[in-house]
Amino acid sequence: MTQPALAPWLLARQQQVEKALDKLLPKANVEPAALHEAMRYAAMDGGKRIRPMLAYAAGEMFDVPAGALDTCACAVECIHAYSLVHDDLPCMDNDVLRRGKPTVHVAYGEAQAMLVGDGLQALAFKSLTQALEAGVAAQQLVPMVNRLADAAGSLGMVGGQALDIAATGHALPRPALEQMHQKKTGALLSASVMLGAMCSPHSAPSHAALEAFAGAIGLAFQVVDDILDVVADSATLGKTAGKDAEHNKATYVSLLGLDEARRLAQQLHEQAHAALASTQPGNPAGLVRLGQLADFICDRRS
Ligand code: IPE
Ligand code: IPE
Ligand code: MG
Ligand code: MG
Ligand code: MG
Repeated sequence: MTQPALAPWLLARQQQVEKALDKLLPKANVEPAALHEAMRYAAMDGGKRIRPMLAYAAGEMFDVPAGALDTCACAVECIHAYSLVHDDLPCMDNDVLRRGKPTVHVAYGEAQAMLVGDGLQALAFKSLTQALEAGVAAQQLVPMVNRLADAAGSLGMVGGQALDIAATGHALPRPALEQMHQKKTGALLSASVMLGAMCSPHSAPSHAALEAFAGAIGLAFQVVDDILDVVADSATLGKTAGKDAEHNKATYVSLLGLDEARRLAQQLHEQAHAALASTQPGNPAGLVRLGQLADFICDRRS
């Protein structure tokens, strides 16, 4: 069966999330104007928008209205954009380039960068609550807020970042490395898939399969990030290449070598597709998109 092309769908959804973020973020002339300008600098017009794409595709499996998916897409992208701003701070990875531009602390100063992250995190939860106005029932929304909080917090992304900082300069055993990657990156990718699906009251029979899918692509995403840090250049990545080795970071490449890390990414890719096969979508088009997004995540060059 020939599949519909991914590129036009990606472009349309990227434009959709851009518009929704523009509406959600306070305008750059609203006081405190310097903070709002910096929040927009961090969140607008950049990045692959993978997390929003996952939310849209998972929602499309259950015919969730676009307006509700916009609130999930913005929520996960705001958490992600905030995590990047803090990840780049001098006290964390100390990076100067992000999404092809100077990092937020380089452009606006460290104090502002910290506040940009704080502001974006709060805005993520505000966005999710707007799902109610977009037709999502309160009994669907409460577990969604809970899920985003777990994914973002000390049991999820922030916890993974803490493990990453503690592991810097040390070799981690494989189970510990996997746990770190699942938390710092996998948790938010999983939440992106699940939030899109959880908007619908009809998605519950597919939750276990979607969790398995999301767990596999969440880990694969960071394995590929570790590989790209070694094999790609800064211009292609829009961020400084080669930083992991320079900073002695615990990564899949440092643990397994490039070839084995590539094999692992391929295995996870296959696991993701196998998991998708046991979902029960109302609309199979969303299922096809999720499969294509798994391919995109594993085959990406940036
Ligand atoms: C980079 O994420 C940080 C990680 C979690 C590995 P992305 O590769 O999704 O970054 P953008 O959003 O495209 O800039
Ligand atoms: C960061 O991982 C994961 C986050 C939670 C932001 P990395 O430190 O490897 O991300 P990059 O390579 O700087 O984008
Ligand atoms: Mg980091
Ligand atoms: Mg980093
Ligand atoms: Mg990296």
